[in-house]
Amino acid sequence: GSHVPIAVFTILLLTSSASCGTLQQLFYNTTSNFSQSEDQLREIYNVSKELIQQRISAHQDVEAEEFRRNLDAICNNGTIDNFFQSMRASMGLLRRVAERDTIIAILGRRLVLACLTLRRVILKTELSKYGGEEVFSDVAKELYAIHVESVLRKTLVDYLHISKSGGTSFSQAARLSKCKMRGGIGQPLYIGDLPHWLNRTVFENITNGLHMTWSIYGKIERGAVSGCERRIGNVSMQGMQYLSNEYTLHGGLDGMAGVHLCQQVVNVVTLRQAEARLLSHLHFLLAHIKVRLARIRRNTGVDLFQLRFCTNNVSMWEGLIPAILDNYNVRSFIGERAFHTAVWGIGRPHVEVARRLLLQFDLVLDLDAGDAATNLLMYQGLGWNVTLAEIHARTAEVVSSKTNYSRTECAIEKLLAEVLPRQGPDRELYSLGRTLSLLDQLLLGWAREIGLRPEPSTINATAVVPPEEAEAPIRCGLLDKRYRSTEVQQDGAAE
Ligand SMILES: *[C@@H]1O[C@H](CO)[C@@H](O)[C@H](O)[C@H]1NC(C)=O
Ligand SMILES: *[C@@H]1O[C@H](CO)[C@@H](O)[C@H](O)[C@H]1NC(C)=O
Ligand SMILES: *[C@@H]1O[C@H](CO)[C@@H](O)[C@H](O)[C@H]1NC(C)=O
Ligand SMILES: *[C@@H]1O[C@H](CO)[C@@H](O)[C@H](O)[C@H]1NC(C)=O
Ligand SMILES: *[C@@H]1O[C@H](CO)[C@@H](O)[C@H](O)[C@H]1NC(C)=O
Ligand SMILES: *[C@@H]1O[C@H](CO)[C@@H](O)[C@H](O)[C@H]1NC(C)=O
Ligand SMILES: *[C@@H]1O[C@H](CO)[C@@H](O)[C@H](O)[C@H]1NC(C)=O
Ligand SMILES: *[C@@H]1O[C@H](CO)[C@@H](O)[C@H](O)[C@H]1NC(C)=O
Ligand SMILES: *[C@@H]1O[C@H](CO)[C@@H](O)[C@H](O)[C@H]1NC(C)=O
Ligand SMILES: *[C@@H]1O[C@H](CO)[C@@H](O)[C@H](O)[C@H]1NC(C)=O
Ligand SMILES: *[C@@H]1O[C@H](CO)[C@@H](O)[C@H](O)[C@H]1NC(C)=O
Repeated sequence: GSHVPIAVFTILLLTSSASCGTLQQLFYNTTSNFSQSEDQLREIYNVSKELIQQRISAHQDVEAEEFRRNLDAICNNGTIDNFFQSMRASMGLLRRVAERDTIIAILGRRLVLACLTLRRVILKTELSKYGGEEVFSDVAKELYAIHVESVLRKTLVDYLHISKSGGTSFSQAARLSKCKMRGGIGQPLYIGDLPHWLNRTVFENITNGLHMTWSIYGKIERGAVSGCERRIGNVSMQGMQYLSNEYTLHGGLDGMAGVHLCQQVVNVVTLRQAEARLLSHLHFLLAHIKVRLARIRRNTGVDLFQLRFCTNNVSMWEGLIPAILDNYNVRSFIGERAFHTAVWGIGRPHVEVARRLLLQFDLVLDLDAGDAATNLLMYQGLGWNVTLAEIHARTAEVVSSKTNYSRTECAIEKLLAEVLPRQGPDRELYSLGRTLSLLDQLLLGWAREIGLRPEPSTINATAVVPPEEAEAPIRCGLLDKRYRSTEVQQDGAAE
């Protein structure tokens, strides 16, 4: 079975080769910049442990209790032998506890990796004695199995689409991977996940009564199909496999206390460096406002655009797009009511909540980590076998230059000077997200390196496929409908 006793494990370590193989290279390459992320790693450990403890006290069973005791030991600064022992024990227990609690599966997997990474300096000098390839290969098999098992129990990818962070490409990847979804980007109107950008009253006032899409800032409730159960129930009944939520997380109508993500789905988010995202968002809006005005007011539209929107009128912008100006990333995590916090109201309590929720995402993508990292997470994490290069190639023509707008024509430099320094909460959340994404890249990079495939066979399960469907293409990778009836062979139970 997969649970090799510790004694055997130790012998394995001592007898294997001492050369620095590719898994070790991958580890040191991925973590080479982590000296700047020590605090984030400790924070991941601290907060994950606390969240796991909260959930475990609700379960009250013996294995979970034992798992909790191991968690205290795993990040202690004991000897390296002790560390390997508690890591080993934690992973075995985690695999069983994870079957009962999908959030613990996610938190626990990254907690182990964070503790391993905190040891990287000492590992670099000590690991050769232990046969580093086997250590890492073992961690990768165990933790990747936990991830695959947990995805196979779900039926839907729920993508938190923070505008201007690569979400359109991600949705395109879902489509090319044959995920069943609605509309262009998997956002059925009645679900109410639309972007809440502009205050309609303000826009109409400024433009003497014009309408603009995305003007539902202030519409707090989603509608009839809100809440995880109704929402997931509704779209699952229709066989959908992908949703893209461009508003905020759920359960926050009365404030942040109840905000949560939907545990029954695969939660994925892409984060992006805060200033770059904000700039991109502003220019996107300006380009579309210009088009709109030019089209509706043939003679005066472009002048009106210049006069109203391109004069660094900070208070106008504060009234028009408060959420975009003030830490839009954090707002995307903290629920419907807190999303509508007045401009410049986002601070420490909001970051705390956002960070707890971010830790619970199955996969965290980092737009600034490049295409290769995204391809890895999509393939190895979800079984989507498409690359961003293919996607960019297909969408390039569609996007084209329909808007006659250049980034230099509109004066917003004073606005930016005022606004960019105030994105501290978003910067903080991004730096946590970047670290989480690196941990995901590390695990999935290892899995790819040792040839683990995003399929049920990786966890010794067989999909029950009716003969007539055997030749049909996989739809949506690990979310394929046929994998839902997967039979997991419980070889671990024989121990
Ligand atoms: C699958 O089974 C093989 C052979 O029994 C075992 O070596 C491997 O660890 C198992 N994998 C998992 C993820 O349980
Ligand atoms: C690690 O980085 C080195 C130097 O950049 C590179 O040559 C090597 O291929 C990388 N190894 C892996 C496994 O990524
Ligand atoms: C490490 O960080 C520096 C500065 O932040 C950056 O330029 C470099 O690309 C990073 N290297 C890796 C491998 O992420
Ligand atoms: C983690 O928790 C420990 C003990 O509770 C505390 O001393 C430390 O400052 C925390 N670290 C971070 C980064 O939050
Ligand atoms: C952990 O212990 C090692 C030696 O056992 C020591 O060099 C290192 O500074 C310690 N690290 C921390 C964070 O206490
Ligand atoms: C509309 O704009 C004018 C000035 O431009 C302002 O006096 C008035 O209060 C605004 N009304 C609303 C509802 O914002
Ligand atoms: C939108 O703007 C109007 C006019 O300034 C204001 O009365 C209203 O409160 C704003 N809506 C929200 C949700 O802030
Ligand atoms: C989903 O909700 C919409 C809007 O309320 C409704 O029209 C539709 O019948 C629902 N579908 C299912 C399968 O519940
Ligand atoms: C800024 O915009 C507001 C609202 O549209 C308007 O009342 C005010 O006069 C503008 N200020 C300047 C300096 O143009
Ligand atoms: C991905 O798809 C291509 C064809 O589009 C196929 O050749 C390749 O084997 C697939 N890779 C994996 C690992 O499934
Ligand atoms: C593009 O906009 C500029 C001013 O912003 C205008 O002079 C020009 O005529 C526009 N071109 C088209 C094709 O609309």
